[in-house]
Amino acid sequence: MKNTLTITQPDDWHLHLRDGALLAAVVPESARNFGRALIMPNLTIPVVTYKDAVAYRGRIKDALPDGSSFKPLMTLYLTEKTDPNDIKKAYESGIVIAAKLYPAGATTNSALGIENFEKLQPVLECMADIGMPMCVHGEVTSHEVDIFDREAVFIDKVLDPLRRRLPSLKVVMEHITTAEGAAYARSDPGKLAATITTHHLMINRNNILAGGIRPHYYCLPIPKREKHRLCLIEAATSGNPCYFLGTDSAPHLDKSKESSCGCAGIYTASNSIPCLAEVFDRADALDKLEGFTSIFGANFYGLSPNKRKITLNKDLPVIFPQKIKTDDGPITLFNPNIDIHWKVTS
Ligand code: DOR
Ligand code: ZN
Repeated sequence: MKNTLTITQPDDWHLHLRDGALLAAVVPESARNFGRALIMPNLTIPVVTYKDAVAYRGRIKDALPDGSSFKPLMTLYLTEKTDPNDIKKAYESGIVIAAKLYPAGATTNSALGIENFEKLQPVLECMADIGMPMCVHGEVTSHEVDIFDREAVFIDKVLDPLRRRLPSLKVVMEHITTAEGAAYARSDPGKLAATITTHHLMINRNNILAGGIRPHYYCLPIPKREKHRLCLIEAATSGNPCYFLGTDSAPHLDKSKESSCGCAGIYTASNSIPCLAEVFDRADALDKLEGFTSIFGANFYGLSPNKRKITLNKDLPVIFPQKIKTDDGPITLFNPNIDIHWKVTS
């Protein structure tokens, strides 16, 4: 039985850091275990232009603990008015490495997102030309489509037609939650990939809804049936480089989650790596953890893996803090609901 594991330092290819008091509280948590993170642009006023991204990156860097080498890799929020020239300038700077497509109304702060996908064609053509990946929140938003079917319908009705119009565009399907998502993600190696979150590997829809409604497990895309969670574990532990870690750690204040209309998002930055080690260990796939957390994402984005290593040790169950304090109030940390025996020790 393996009790110590040394791997290349992980990166988080999908992270929400917010702004202000939340930013100050959560940045050190991500910087503790991760070398780099792809920063989502859905602030209350989204990060739409290159100039917005440079300013936000500055605020993130200011919030880092002294001496931290954590590197925020920025994204731009695509709107129907995005200027291809600005996208190009942003990508060529090296500061912005991808652009994020939110269907309008799909999730937190997505009102400025896309309604008419054909309007994106010039921007997407430019991205395909320069090799800039598009990250996509893959859910349709129409009220007729059941919330548990929104990912599968998006693949058929939006994503596949979009990729047929522009087969050279690199696409990351963010936070996949279904067997259909996992199957589609492996269908075009090198051009198509998918991030998988920590929480979608650990909870299903029963965890949210059975025996009482648990707002801290509510996120989007909504966790599905158990058979889908098992498919995600199979994908993440398969060693297929099209699947890599994006935690989608999404802090919301407790008062916004514990409400009659609670926000979507699960905060996992602080305990993701121990939780993932536990999931991979239980799947007898600890040898596949490093590829998923530390290698495949960097390769897809054309970057080298981190030089640093981290070491994890397995021992008695670890106790994590229940809350992260911020100047605006507490945030609840993801409770994986199973014993986690792994701890990052160096
Ligand atoms: O659960 C989620 N929370 N899903 C998203 O897509 C957005 C995120 C957020 O920003 O809170
Ligand atoms: Zn997200």
